[in-house]
Amino acid sequence: MAKLIGINKVKISIFISGAGSNLLNLIKHSKKRNSNYTIKIIFSDNKEAAGLEYAKKYKIPFKVLNYRNKIKAEERSLKLLNTYKVKIVCLAGYMRILSSYFIKNFKGKILNIHPSLLPKYKGLNTHYRAIKNKEKYSGCTVHFVNKKLDSGKIILQKKLKISLKENVKSLEKKILKIEHRIYPKAVEKVLINF
Ligand code: GRF
Repeated sequence: MAKLIGINKVKISIFISGAGSNLLNLIKHSKKRNSNYTIKIIFSDNKEAAGLEYAKKYKIPFKVLNYRNKIKAEERSLKLLNTYKVKIVCLAGYMRILSSYFIKNFKGKILNIHPSLLPKYKGLNTHYRAIKNKEKYSGCTVHFVNKKLDSGKIILQKKLKISLKENVKSLEKKILKIEHRIYPKAVEKVLINF
């Protein structure tokens, strides 16, 4: 794909719930000369999410979604995604499951990053389960989102060795590092088809 500049960059949105290290990483990548996307709006289901500080710091519009009414929260986000002409939604530590209504009505692509070597260890507590099962390897996966949890087509995956003295914290740290390497690459890979 030829390099996109300025207004031609593909508009994306990031959904977060917590620390937002993947968000920060995607923001930084979007500022690079060779990046083909720009982040138009950030969503969080949690007003306390530390990652929202990055939205403020980089002056990116953000919206906190009130999930007391899930349908309304999703309708709200869909409307804003449409307003901002967003073509790709990236879930980055987003702790909500998007409904089939959202998936059907968002006309772009939805990506997620998951801290395991999918299809192994879908869902929560991936590091704990991988260590407990004495896995030799773990890693992370960027995949498309479909109606089944952590089951959409894989875009990129990166594997690493679990050391003998590994604990949940150390593995989480190592895996976050490789998440930061592959998420921007996965977004750019998807953009090739735009
Ligand atoms: C990451 O490990 C991601 O794979 C998982 O949630 C974590 C989010 O971390 N879905 P952060 O908020 O991006 O720092």
